[in-house]
This record gives sequence, structure tokens and C-alpha cells, in this order.
Amino acid sequence: MALKAGVIGLRMGAAHAAAYARNPHTDLCVVCDVDEERAAAVAAEHGARAVTDYRALIEADVDIVSVASPDRLHPEHCIAALHAGKHVLCEKPLALTMDECRAIIAAADASGAVFMVGQVCRFAPGFVLAKSLIDDGLIGNLFLAESEYAHNYTHARGVGDWRVDPLRHPFVGGGCHAVDLVRWIAGNVAEVHAYANHFAMKDWPVDDCTVANLRFESGVIGSVMCSIGCRRPYTMRSCFYGDAGTIVTSNTAPTIQVYSTRYPTKNEFWELPVDLSSHNVASEVDELVSHIRGGTKPPTDAREGARTVATCLAAVESAASGQPVQVPNDF
Ligand SMILES: NC(=O)c1ccc[n+]([C@@H]2O[C@H](COP(=O)([O-])OP(=O)(O)OC[C@H]3O[C@@H](n4cnc5c(N)ncnc54)[C@H](O)[C@@H]3O)[C@@H](O)[C@H]2O)c1
Repeated sequence: MALKAGVIGLRMGAAHAAAYARNPHTDLCVVCDVDEERAAAVAAEHGARAVTDYRALIEADVDIVSVASPDRLHPEHCIAALHAGKHVLCEKPLALTMDECRAIIAAADASGAVFMVGQVCRFAPGFVLAKSLIDDGLIGNLFLAESEYAHNYTHARGVGDWRVDPLRHPFVGGGCHAVDLVRWIAGNVAEVHAYANHFAMKDWPVDDCTVANLRFESGVIGSVMCSIGCRRPYTMRSCFYGDAGTIVTSNTAPTIQVYSTRYPTKNEFWELPVDLSSHNVASEVDELVSHIRGGTKPPTDAREGARTVATCLAAVESAASGQPVQVPNDF
């Protein structure tokens, strides 16, 4: 029997709704947005029921709840859904504070339901290909991992300006994409030393540009840059260096660049094509559904989401104090 799904927050959540409508093992039954017109429009598109109070969605006959509401609301919405026994897909970041992350971990442990954080970069075709080539040894032993979240927020303040919130630091809310990507490739980060400034988005309540140097537990080093005031198209340029090669990739380019001394031809990068038309949220939902059906745990469970948030918060703390900060990974 198909799993019944509901989605809270219907802008990014509209992609979740479409993914449940498309997955052969799920039925999209209920959608929720405080904006009644938006809820009605998404419901009409998929033949679902519209509600404006998230509690009505959680009380409804659904097996899965996607939480795609503003970041600050993730703990309230996820914990309520878990208490009601629902499987949960939570948009990134898991939460904005470590106390909230711990509360979600406790609720997920107590419920026994499947909980997954939507770290969508793990489904971006360029990053997926880079990870598989690195795991296959194409660039040898990794020694340096770099990524970035460069996204001009001038017109991306969120409905009601929810992103303009000192608690929602851009390095946590947006930088978590790049931090999670390098953590996926290189493992847990042990220590962060960061710098930040506030030149490009002067009306933002906190620093708009942060550069964090990272030391991973493995000894790999790396960096993540996060700018919400950069004047350029959005992309996440990322570079992975090993002792036998290098991969340059992003989430927006139609190719990734690979160089490997294992296959020397000329001293130039190969351009490998990637399928940019693939729907990354759909892949994310497909993975959630396969874990629910198989009774398995997603790699980005609540603890893994918390490690990414902990790394981001360590960078914010380091930029404020000027000191290196150890990252807690033991949740
Ligand atoms: N994975 C990605 O690449 C990606 C991209 C964008 C946003 N996000 C994440 O998705 C989430 C939503 O971001 P967005 O860009 O859609 O924001 P948005 O501001 O564009 O839309 C938020 C929606 O949630 C609704 N909403 C607000 N409070 C609500 C409540 N209490 N109950 C129900 N609905 C409510 C709003 O009316 C609005 O329609 C955030 O957590 C964000 O970080 C992820």
C-alpha cells in the first residue's frame, strides 16, 4: 500500500509535494501553508487536501511529513511529527542551535520512525559523481577539500523576511550546504578557524561573508566560504585535491573537471558530463521512501544533521572570538 505523505511549507516544499506525487510508493494527501492561497494552489495541482495549521496535517492520516517551513520552525514541526509517529524529512539545516538539534535527536530516538535531513547536495549529480570517483581512488589520497555557498540574498530574504534573523546566521542556514558537502567527502571536522566581515549586505543583522578553515579528523584540511552578498549567479564551486589528482565541480555546471595521474593523457582536465536535468529533491524523497520501505536508516539522520550544524556553529563562534574552535561530533 502506498505511503501517505504531507508537506509543511509550500515554496521549497512544493518540490517535495511534486516528488511525493511522482514517487510510485507514495500518495501526496495533505499540504500545509499559512498562506491559504498557496496551500490551495499546491493542493489543487496534486489532488491533495489543503490545511493552514501544521497540527491539522500532523493529525491527518499521513505516514510521512516533510518539513519545509522556515528554519526556525524545524524543531517545533519535526518534534510534533515525530511524537505523532510520522516519518520525517526535514529541510536543511536541521536546526539553528545545538539544544534544538539534541531535542530533535531525542524525539527521533524515542519515535523509532525514519528521520532524514534533506542535505540535497548529496543528490546533486556533479557532487554525486565527484564522490564516487574519489571513493574509487581516482584522485588518490584526499588532502584538501574546498567548497562554497555563494548566494546573493538581496531577493532571497524569505517570505516575511525570515532569513533576516540574527539566530539564522547565513553560515548555518546556507553555509550548511557546503559544510555538509565537504563532510560527506572528507568526514567529520575536528577544528574550525574562521574569519568574517560585514561589507556587502549592510542591512543584514550579522556578518554576510565568512571563510572557515577546517581540519578534519582524518588530517585532511579544507575550507568553506559563505557569502550572501556576492554579486554573481548562484553556484557552489567545489574542489577536491588528492595525491593522484584533482576534481573541480559545482551544482550548476553541465560537466565536472577531473585530472588524474593514474590516466595521464595530456596535462589537462577531462570534462565529464553530468545530468543537470535530474530533480535533486525527487532523488532525496526517493531515498527517504526506500529507507522507510527497507527499514533502514538514512545516512543523513538527525545525528548527521546535528554534526553539520555543529561545524557551522563552530565557524560562527570562531569568527566572533578569533580563536580556533573544536567541533563536537559525538551525538
Ligand atoms: N534544499 C535546498 O536547496 C533549499 C533551498 C531553499 C530553501 N531550503 C529550505 O527550505 C525551507 C523553506 O525555505 P523556502 O525557501 O521555501 O522559504 P520561503 O520563505 O520561500 O517559503 C516558506 C513557506 O513556508 C510558509 N510558512 C511559514 N510559516 C509556516 C508555518 N508555521 N506553517 C506552514 N507554513 C509556513 C510560508 O507561507 C511560505 O510559503 C527552509 O528550511 C530553507 O532553509 C532548502
